Amino acid sequence: MQKRKTTRFAPLEITSTEFKKLGHDVVGQISRHLAKIQKIKVTTAPSPRQVRKLLRSGGLPRKGMAPTKLLKETSDMLFKNSLFNGHPRFWGYISGSPSPLGILGDFLASSVNPNVGAFILSPVATEIELQTVRWIAEMIGYPTDCGGILVSGGNMANFVCFLAARKAKLAWDVRAQGFKGSQGKRFWIYTSAETHTWIQKAADLFGFGTDSIRWIPVDGDLRMDLGALRRQIMDDVASGDVPLMVIGTAGSVGTGAIDPLGEIATVCREHSLWFHVDGAYGALAAVLPDAPDDLRALSMADSVAVDPHKWLYTPLEAGCALVRKQDDLVGAFSYHPPYYKFEGKEGDEPTNFYERGLQNSRGFRALKVWLTLRQVGREGYEKMISDDIQLARILHAKVTSHPELQAFTQSLSITTFRYVPSDLNVGDQNAEKYLNALNEEILGHLQRGGEAFCSNTLIRGKFVLRACIVNFRTTTEDIEALPDIVVRIGKKIDKKLRTKESGN
Ligand SMILES: Cc1ncc(COP(=O)(O)O)c(C=O)c1O
Repeated sequence: MQKRKTTRFAPLEITSTEFKKLGHDVVGQISRHLAKIQKIKVTTAPSPRQVRKLLRSGGLPRKGMAPTKLLKETSDMLFKNSLFNGHPRFWGYISGSPSPLGILGDFLASSVNPNVGAFILSPVATEIELQTVRWIAEMIGYPTDCGGILVSGGNMANFVCFLAARKAKLAWDVRAQGFKGSQGKRFWIYTSAETHTWIQKAADLFGFGTDSIRWIPVDGDLRMDLGALRRQIMDDVASGDVPLMVIGTAGSVGTGAIDPLGEIATVCREHSLWFHVDGAYGALAAVLPDAPDDLRALSMADSVAVDPHKWLYTPLEAGCALVRKQDDLVGAFSYHPPYYKFEGKEGDEPTNFYERGLQNSRGFRALKVWLTLRQVGREGYEKMISDDIQLARILHAKVTSHPELQAFTQSLSITTFRYVPSDLNVGDQNAEKYLNALNEEILGHLQRGGEAFCSNTLIRGKFVLRACIVNFRTTTEDIEALPDIVVRIGKKIDKKLRTKESGN
């Protein structure tokens, strides 16, 4: 190569010596944060106004700022004003604690900055993503020759699968003609009332409308009622409508319930429907040797959504869409504009991910997932996932034996329960109303307090606290502390509410 005679020094450029120093400083701050994460609060719970004040809401600065000071100020601000889902007592919603190697993976990935839209722009990154997809499929017992792609999370993974189903199942070319080709027919999408809200966005955004969702009732364990599903499909067929797909959930967002996936697969086969499984949360538990049969039956699905940023504990964002037939995935997204020359050689064809999903330019999110998979292997995940489930069971047992707590559900690593003052008559209408208000306040208090972080769900109209453990840092001691924390807060709020009610 010819020796360069000139160097451009753009304002953004940093010398390699300075880069090294800045990097050391940042990594130092991160490692100090990680070293004390058990001892700090889960969240400092700042208000929006407090955070805006910190950002000094002026206009865009005209002049730049020295990187050393900027990075120091920024990391201080982040570490003092965030919620840490890597904290051992974070059990809210379904967010995994981020693996340290995954954190470094994101750093490394952006240093190379491959555009994983086309092989030619990202040779190693593309193949790493393909391998990651195959490993995830293998972990959950899904065919490893499926089509797959990494996306930003569960919503997007479900969207990708939904679009593959839409293209594969509609009898006309919906990508060209839109819904003009429907000839006035009605199409139905079947799913249980416990399904995550992505389904409403998908039905809305991709042309069906939310009225096309048949909300199938659930049984006592919050799993799709198969009889009701069968009856609804028969009724719709009898009316001349077109059933299109059934969506089963492997680990519902509210309680971790697993739909009877094997039976749903049979219904889909009988009626020639697309069978999609939303396994964003629970699919990865299929890696366990003692995984329930219902969960294993996700292997029969036409498509599955899985979230590495949940139970693979990778930093946000990482979701994964798997579609049994590669052609169904590519068929839903591919175009070949003249300005793309990405074909490669016959017999050694490249994979170009822009043809498999909604994004064009794409980052290297596979690296953090691939690194963590390699770091601990299948056995590491079996251990961490089964430990999380065991902790949720311990919590359930603790709550069940506590006189002032009422246990509701336990499935996968989610346990739900509520605080019930000992003098209250559960089941009485007024008492139930009061319990909902009381537990809602308890949750707010818990979430702002920073001792532990849970979220909530509604079970048959009852507001319950929900602890979801997808956290490799949580210990038995952490989980055993939760009942007493909730009861302490519960007593205080109960007293406050009763004093308010009696007007004192
Ligand atoms: C079952 C299920 N599906 C979909 C989602 C949406 O995932 P994301 O928030 O990654 O888009 C979630 C999130 O918790 C979920 O639990």
